Amino acid sequence: MLAMSSQNLVAEIKGLGDKTAKKLIWNARNALGMTDFTAAIDIDENIEIFTTGSRELDRILGGGFQTGKLTEVYGPFKSGKTNLAHTIAVTVQLPKGKGGIGGACAYIDTENTFSRSKIQRIAQRFELDPKETLAKVYHARIYSSDHQDQMILKAETLCKNRNVRLVVVDSLMALLRAEYVGIGMLARRQGVLNNMIHALSRIAETYNAAVFLTNQVATQMKGMFSADDAIGGNIVAHGCHFRVMFKTKGFSSNSSLKRRAVIVDAPDLPPEECEFFITNAGVADTEEFDLPDTPRLDFQLEELYEESEGNNDNDDSEDIESNNGASLTDIKGIGAGTLKNLKENGIESVKDLLDEEPGDIASKISGVSKKMAEEWQEIAQNL
Ligand SMILES: Nc1ncnc2c1ncn2[C@@H]1O[C@H](COP(=O)(O)OP(=O)(O)O)[C@@H](O)[C@H]1O
Ligand SMILES: [Mg+2]
Repeated sequence: MLAMSSQNLVAEIKGLGDKTAKKLIWNARNALGMTDFTAAIDIDENIEIFTTGSRELDRILGGGFQTGKLTEVYGPFKSGKTNLAHTIAVTVQLPKGKGGIGGACAYIDTENTFSRSKIQRIAQRFELDPKETLAKVYHARIYSSDHQDQMILKAETLCKNRNVRLVVVDSLMALLRAEYVGIGMLARRQGVLNNMIHALSRIAETYNAAVFLTNQVATQMKGMFSADDAIGGNIVAHGCHFRVMFKTKGFSSNSSLKRRAVIVDAPDLPPEECEFFITNAGVADTEEFDLPDTPRLDFQLEELYEESEGNNDNDDSEDIESNNGASLTDIKGIGAGTLKNLKENGIESVKDLLDEEPGDIASKISGVSKKMAEEWQEIAQNL
């Protein structure tokens, strides 16, 4: 720990001068053999890999989820981030040679979306004992950003004592975002965030553990265009080795469980993308699983719960399509030709239309102006 610290941090400890701090750290580094250069051929990477539950997702990640690294997945609500978190909390436990690394998981849950029954179903899918699997997921429900900081440090202890090889933070920014509001708080927020990212990097390196962070997106205007960006800025972007974007666009996030993943940034991976599915037993390549004697009931309950949640959420656009089944051609100005064009660009329903920025629609669909797109959306709102 000392060996990985920097001198000015240690010198802040009361009673330690700059010189003493430097000496302490340098000695620690000598002791650990951190002060020699290594011929590149001898670098011991000992990266271990475990499956995400989807071969496609494994493929674009360069084989699967990697230890010793921070991986960030960002994407909109319902894009599958929490599902992936649950899936890898189980697959990390699989034996070596069976897609896992035989480790346990620390799960830092800031949004209260952890589900024991989901973990059990995923365990069944991978032929693990559901109870034993639950016993190796160390869960902490987090209530404030300061609590989050504290529990990240606690997770380090679990790595040391309980063979934790995966630390999940789902989600990284939710509490920070709620607590530090406004530009005046930004510097302080980034300070807290910086500490967390550093602690997590250290855990990843020291214990050769995988770290999985989920993040929300904010739509940012870039001139005429809008783009979904992860929040947290450069600290998160630079702190993470792998950055993956999950997308629901082009699929209706309600009626389809198909999702797209895009490698946004990775030191040694091509910018690939793939499709995967969310199933009742986590992330997969297919739509359905026949689980041996699955308790169907809790799955249904979960769905009901999510539906009712959707209604009081700000997510009410989801209901438009399901409530009255209006179709795109009900909108004045959208004929068969435009419909085809819209569909080819992933806008297949009234909801999809409402989800797009008018400017984006105009740039995608030839012959359509931004104003026209705005008018369509106005009509669509009232359908
Ligand atoms: N048991 C389940 N079976 C199939 N799909 C599910 C199940 N539970 C949740 N989902 C679907 O997963 C999506 C939510 O994914 P989630 O991983 O929670 O997204 P995020 O964390 O990105 O907001 C929703 O579309 C929901 O319908
Ligand atoms: Mg989530």
